[in-house]
Amino acid sequence: MAKFERIVILTGAGISAESGIDTFRDAGGLWERHRIEDVATPEGFARNPDLVFGFYDARRAALKSVEPNPAHRALARLEAEFPGELLLVTQNVDDLHERGGSRDVLHMHGELSSALCTACEMRSPLDVPLLDRPACPVCQAPTLRPDVVWFGEMPYRVERIYAALGECDLFVSIGTSGAVYPAAGFVQEALMNGARTLELNLEPSEGSRFFTESRHGRAGEIVPQWVDEVLGS
Ligand code: APR
Repeated sequence: MAKFERIVILTGAGISAESGIDTFRDAGGLWERHRIEDVATPEGFARNPDLVFGFYDARRAALKSVEPNPAHRALARLEAEFPGELLLVTQNVDDLHERGGSRDVLHMHGELSSALCTACEMRSPLDVPLLDRPACPVCQAPTLRPDVVWFGEMPYRVERIYAALGECDLFVSIGTSGAVYPAAGFVQEALMNGARTLELNLEPSEGSRFFTESRHGRAGEIVPQWVDEVLGS
């Protein structure tokens, strides 16, 4: 296996599917049961905040009954043992990367375990239902919302991600359909900068043609295999 020095990994809902968290666009996925316009846009939130609070409160509560899977743990091992630079970017708002042992996870779409205050714009840890209208722990205003990046909003730390894509020699995409930008464009950015690109997904994603190599299978199986190869053991 080629030796890499700087790796950027992007994960999506598919890496948490085997832990029992629904993906968005697969059969029976979240977007078949909920309207994006109602629960994942600022306009939907303005129209019916209780519907939105209920949606994210339920997803946060569900985290208590799921566990990280071998794919999450394999990436934590890679972080601990890889001698080069590694940036783990996730589109997921669950906490399974951290519970799987990863220490440095960039949540570009936010996190279920934190809230965002629309008055002081501070982010703070959240462990009570938003339906209870908890006050912002920083400014005390009753203006908390889910700390999730909705459609039409700018993801977190995009500059950091593009800087890493500009320098990496390997870009790996795991468990994402490649349907949502800017994340879906990262592979082209890495390719343009001369990196090898690897897709690890259950099936070909919308951006499959941009990957130097694609391996299709369940993340819980193909991610540990790939990590073994990179670490040479
Ligand atoms: N192992 C590997 N891949 C899997 C598995 C699995 N066990 N199960 C499903 N997949 C793949 C599917 O084939 C699909 O390509 O994971 C992908 C999941 O795609 P989506 O449901 O579209 O999720 P994602 O790509 O993370 O969505 C991106 O869209 O809805 C917004 O903000 C939300 O972050 C999300 C973004």
